[in-house]
Amino acid sequence: MQRIERVRELQAWSDGVRAAGGRVALVPTMGALHPGHLSLVRHAYRCADRVIVSIFVNPTQFGAGEDFSFYPRDLERDCELLRELGTDVVFAPPVKEVYPEGWSTWVEVEGLTGGLCGRNRPGHFRGVTTVVARLFHAAKPHVAVFGEKDYQQLAVIRRMARDLLLDVEIEGAPTVREPDGLAMSSRNRNLSEEERLQARALHAALREAALSVRAGERRSAVLIESVRRQIAEQPAACVDYVEIVDPDTLDPVASIVRRAVLAVAVRFPKARLIDNALLETA
Ligand code: PAJ
Repeated sequence: MQRIERVRELQAWSDGVRAAGGRVALVPTMGALHPGHLSLVRHAYRCADRVIVSIFVNPTQFGAGEDFSFYPRDLERDCELLRELGTDVVFAPPVKEVYPEGWSTWVEVEGLTGGLCGRNRPGHFRGVTTVVARLFHAAKPHVAVFGEKDYQQLAVIRRMARDLLLDVEIEGAPTVREPDGLAMSSRNRNLSEEERLQARALHAALREAALSVRAGERRSAVLIESVRRQIAEQPAACVDYVEIVDPDTLDPVASIVRRAVLAVAVRFPKARLIDNALLETA
């Protein structure tokens, strides 16, 4: 496994693979890897011959007062896990390599970023799309893999790729969960033992809503109220949002026709957790 820190070196590596007829996949991450991230790497190997995993805690997507400074970092352990998987390249650049002196260009997707996480995290998606666009140009992948756990992020990146004619296929991969249903996240380690138990309510409430829709419930307001109530029963949890949206436009829907996405964000004292479920009528 090669460790690369410089953009130029990564571009040269990718050019070499491409020239030899190989297909390159990129898996962007912020490190503190868990089995959810590793599943994206396995997914990437099903779409390409060579895989680059980027590890970069991107300062521009964290707001003031968010957890940038105490976001977990453990590059050596991450590299060990990736080496075991057979990863070709880990790209772990210093901040100056991604945001050099005099850098002043942002990539911003409008509309899709206004609701859900965009409402309470202004500037967050602008930071995500800017860094991902830059990572695409550094890694020159044929395909890039993102998790469905961050549903809005995946939709925003798909839109960016489409709107800017980026020559990269965007692949979504399913959410990997703990045995009790909690979506794996680097932020779960910031939960106390008691909060960790309470966090089970997120997936439990989403699952129950998905079952209600199968059983005939179509009213978003009823479903949302029930999810809110189940989460509010957890003393350490504070609901940021519970919304039911169109899977493509992310606009709120009043009733479920065929398919919709139920998305939640919940704040615990030291971790903000998100999760979502696809609601299908049949
Ligand atoms: P990070 O939170 O490290 O997540 C990296 C990728 O792993 C994302 O595509 C995310 O959706 C996916 N992921 C996280 N938890 C997962 C789980 N339980 N199951 C499956 N996939 C999961 O998302 C980011 O970093 C950043 O915003 C980034 C895209 C790297 C830009 O900085």
